[in-house]
Amino acid sequence: MADALMAGKSVLVTGGTGGIGRATAIGLAALGARVGITGRDQARAVAAAAGIRAATGNAAVDAFAADMSAQAEVRRLAAQVAGTYPRLDVLVNNAGGFWAHRNVTADGLERTFALNHLAPFLLTNLLLGRLTASAPARVVTVSSGAQASGRINFEDLQGERNYSGQRAYSQSKLANVMFTFELARRLEGAGVTAAVLHPGVVRTSFGAEDQAAYFAVMARVARLFMKTPAQGAVTPVYLASSPEVEGITGRYFVSRKPTTSSKASYDTAAAAQLWQVSAGLTATA
Ligand SMILES: NC(=O)c1ccc[n+]([C@@H]2O[C@H](COP(=O)([O-])OP(=O)(O)OC[C@H]3O[C@@H](n4cnc5c(N)ncnc54)[C@H](OP(=O)(O)O)[C@@H]3O)[C@@H](O)[C@H]2O)c1
Repeated sequence: MADALMAGKSVLVTGGTGGIGRATAIGLAALGARVGITGRDQARAVAAAAGIRAATGNAAVDAFAADMSAQAEVRRLAAQVAGTYPRLDVLVNNAGGFWAHRNVTADGLERTFALNHLAPFLLTNLLLGRLTASAPARVVTVSSGAQASGRINFEDLQGERNYSGQRAYSQSKLANVMFTFELARRLEGAGVTAAVLHPGVVRTSFGAEDQAAYFAVMARVARLFMKTPAQGAVTPVYLASSPEVEGITGRYFVSRKPTTSSKASYDTAAAAQLWQVSAGLTATA
């Protein structure tokens, strides 16, 4: 694999035990990268890493366990990753979820906001030193087409007054886009690019932990028409590896093409405010 596109590069894919993350890890391992995957459960992560090694013939696949909805675990994960990889070329922020009902994390935060937005925010900030030292490096974040209907409700960010799973999810996926655009602005000239993407509608375990009833029925029918995880991984693998996007930063991609995201995502004052609030909530200010 010495002459492969990603030979000599190290990549971390969060949520690499299943779905789009696993397929992304397979794609990058097949290109010769050393790949770390994360999941909540150690045994499941180790089994997934073994499966990725077997599928690609690349022995350099590492498993990390962390429940990323808990900030202490994100901090432990970042320390472990920094201890394992002397250089980190790509961070793929992929782990995420949907909950029809409001849940609260170990930190007392609403789960969708904590896992989908604050976890990648914190992990990226904790690994930024290693990424910058490895420049040129990339941060790739998996958002969703749901960003288009998202609104950042600064008055009730965590749905304490009024929770809807769809609203919380769309808000978190818009937050992924705004985080990426703000990160790109902050990293200008540092040699680290930030890209965000919609993977398409993909047949995975997504939302299975707590689906709205109507969603479950629709999902059974819609599954027939969904992309496979490998198809869903095409854009994240492209953004993590392709020389075509070297140096391109602060863009939203669909099907490997830079595309316009929601009008709200270009509000730089709101993005700066979201960054500040997130830094406060993760004690990274
Ligand atoms: N599927 C779609 O149609 C679709 C469309 C647009 C965007 N997306 C986005 O794509 C990303 C991946 O979704 P997917 O469809 O592949 O979902 P999935 O099949 O449910 O996979 C989710 C991954 O995240 C991990 N994960 C879940 N909760 C976690 C936690 N608390 N801490 C650490 N890891 C956790 C899971 O690992 P363990 O279970 O082993 O912990 C798994 O590897 C998400 O960000 C989602 O918003 C998906």
